[in-house]
Amino acid sequence: MNRINYLGFRIMDYGFRNLGFLLIVITFLSCKQKSKVTYSKDVAPIIYKNCTSCHRPGSAGPFPLVSYNDAAKRSKMIASITKSRRMPPWPADNTYTHFTDENVLSKEEINLLQQWAEAGAPVGDANHVPKAPSYTASILGKPDLVVKMPEAFKIKGDNTDHFMFMKVPFEIPRDTFVRAIEFVPGNKALVHHVNGHLIRYQYDKKKNVNDGEKIVDSQAYPVKELYEKLKLANDDGSYPLLKSSFVNYLPGVLPTMYPDGIGGFSLNRKNAILLKDIHYGPSPIDTTDQSYFNIFFAKEAPKRPTLEMQLGTLGISEIIPPLIIPPNEVKTFYTRAVAPRDMSVLTINPHMHLLGKTFWAFAITPKGDTIPLIRIQKWDFRWQYFYTFKKIVKIPRGSLITVIATYDNTRNNPENPFNPPQLVQERNGSMRTTDEMLQFIITYLPYQPGDENISLAKEANGE
Ligand code: HEC
Repeated sequence: MNRINYLGFRIMDYGFRNLGFLLIVITFLSCKQKSKVTYSKDVAPIIYKNCTSCHRPGSAGPFPLVSYNDAAKRSKMIASITKSRRMPPWPADNTYTHFTDENVLSKEEINLLQQWAEAGAPVGDANHVPKAPSYTASILGKPDLVVKMPEAFKIKGDNTDHFMFMKVPFEIPRDTFVRAIEFVPGNKALVHHVNGHLIRYQYDKKKNVNDGEKIVDSQAYPVKELYEKLKLANDDGSYPLLKSSFVNYLPGVLPTMYPDGIGGFSLNRKNAILLKDIHYGPSPIDTTDQSYFNIFFAKEAPKRPTLEMQLGTLGISEIIPPLIIPPNEVKTFYTRAVAPRDMSVLTINPHMHLLGKTFWAFAITPKGDTIPLIRIQKWDFRWQYFYTFKKIVKIPRGSLITVIATYDNTRNNPENPFNPPQLVQERNGSMRTTDEMLQFIITYLPYQPGDENISLAKEANGE
């Protein structure tokens, strides 16, 4: 009896132990099953949110990342490029300040992409792959006027970048008001960035807005000569006023339209859009681009037109010391200006050329508080965004707006246009990539109480 009991006990004991082990194995397996990273569950949402705005057919990315196959065959490349944070391109430090269109992956998202690649890029539940986002022609709706480049630009298949000055003249029957202008690239794969200014001619001062060349290589001549070739001046040789930076473009960036009542400007009967400049990426084959502008009219004069403040090169504040960067040196410069009034800041644009390394801008109020504006730890010449704040940022009158920028003129800078490094300096605002610039453009409104609560997020504008 005793013995049987004893045996029975042993048998039961053995069984339980096995069962326990089995349970552990099952739990372990099912956990593993649950945490397995798949395309349909984890990866597709990340790619749709952060990549397909550029990586889709006919857009700027070198290949689409729209389907499972697109992504799966590049899973290793996606894992490494996101780990190094080269993609998605977003130079601004999002631990410092936030902007609309901010495109930064979280650590968790980067980890998911690594695990997915390591696991062999499994699709997961192939029947529940979420639908890829669709991109409409323009998020701003139907334009009132479309203005096209007067002639197609022939892009040489020489595998080099091209930086052009371009004039796009247009006439309209009567003076009017505009709410926004959107640049639409003709050749989405090659148009890299555009910075557009508006020239509004007084009717009697310019007979023919169409005369002069339309496209010139901005690297080939000094700025003054470029202007002459494009015949931008009035007939009497004087220069018309330029409304600067009213249209900008970078791949993946939505056009700027501020909330109702903010921004906008007037158009004259005779106008010209001056692209200064338009940057085409390298192409291995001869091809063309004929980009255009969608213009959206406004019913009335702008209630709160934007103002612009420009620090540094060609701006209101001196660069200290003068922007001369000796070869084989890493050198830091600063420039600062006092806020002339209470400012409601909408958008900021840091600008340097190829030697840029870091860029940092902030304001110090008369009370001694610091207002962070932007910090770029790793400057990337190719991704020069116009950064729009999520909410208007108030800079009180008398604040000291400060920009600190560092340039790397050593061989360690892979973008250095010279090897061996040579002295590089500011030359009268020359756009040449071999000359340097330090510029900070602030688009703002005179402050009104409550401005700091106004959201500039594009979703919030009902678009
Ligand atoms: C704003 C547009 C844009 C976004 C958003 C974007 N890319 Fe790119 N991507 C590009 C462009 C343009 C290139 C071509 C190389 C370059 O200009 O850096 C590129 C290149 C790449 C390359 C190839 C790099 C090489 O060395 O050939 C990979 C891989 C890549 N992107 C993955 C991604 C992933 C993954 C995402 C999202 C997490 C993403 N990209 C988001 C525009 C973008």
